[in-house]
Amino acid sequence: MKTQHLTSLYDLTPAQLTDLLDRATALKSLFKKGERPQLLQGHVLAQLFEKPSLRTRNSFESAMIHLGGGGIFLTTAEAGLNGRESLADVARVLSSFSDIITMRTFSHQLIIDFSGHSSCPVINGLSDERHPCQALTDLLTIREVCGELKGRHLVFVGDGNNVSMSLAIACAMTGMKMTLAVPKGFEYGPEFLEELTRRYPGHQTQQLHDPRKAVATADIVYTDVWASMGQEDDADRRKSAFAEFQVNEALMKCAPKSAFFMHDLPAKRGLEVTDDVMECSQSIVFQQAENRMHLARGLFAWLLGK
Ligand code: CP
Ligand code: NVA
Repeated sequence: MKTQHLTSLYDLTPAQLTDLLDRATALKSLFKKGERPQLLQGHVLAQLFEKPSLRTRNSFESAMIHLGGGGIFLTTAEAGLNGRESLADVARVLSSFSDIITMRTFSHQLIIDFSGHSSCPVINGLSDERHPCQALTDLLTIREVCGELKGRHLVFVGDGNNVSMSLAIACAMTGMKMTLAVPKGFEYGPEFLEELTRRYPGHQTQQLHDPRKAVATADIVYTDVWASMGQEDDADRRKSAFAEFQVNEALMKCAPKSAFFMHDLPAKRGLEVTDDVMECSQSIVFQQAENRMHLARGLFAWLLGK
């Protein structure tokens, strides 16, 4: 049987995505009652990261411990992916010790190549092109606050980056409308949109350059950093380009009062979002962050058929 990986949301069908979210919701409600079913006793999670992480790394490891297993962590350099041995050899050896491998890399292709040689599921914990576990968590959170996903409108104010591309795919898979409010020059590339259209011809993704107009019918106003990890040298240019795209009180006033505010975190308060929006009653950013762990539990249990 083919090993099920999660390098991108395209690795799932919409039915599998719903199934996985249901699993996470069920495990979350047990967790809130103090129940931690030991579904993965004796299982090993190996994490290979080449960028820093608070939420992803620790939600994955906590999830595995809650389910009765344990985790090992190594940088990709420590794993030997810096030329010490071939990627195929590292993947074959590490997957022979592990039940699940999570990876955070600069290159998206590295995760795809690694997964091709891994005998256990490989989960993308963020690459330059995708952040599928963030988008799945966001769907879980939106379901909690809005109920049904179909027909909801998510407005991402910011960069056409890894997080926003995964959200666009997530929206296409669940019948949500997705608007990217973006400065000129930072939109989605044509290849991304072509693939999205090929896979989900009915998707409702649009790109606008006016954030006020974009949020007018939002159920969710979402933002992320203007300069992602690896783009630090471009931060000043981005700060000027995105200046009109800050999510602040004035922009939230252009959205319906019922709209929620989301951010994958870490946030650069004072840049893409102000303190008052982070802390306002519409903000669900900490519920969203906690859900990284609940989603990870659902994902691990689902991937391993437990
Ligand atoms: N949202 C998210 O992936 O956070 P970390 O970079 O802290 O993992
Ligand atoms: N777009 C951000 C997300 C961080 C979780 C980055 O790649 O740095």
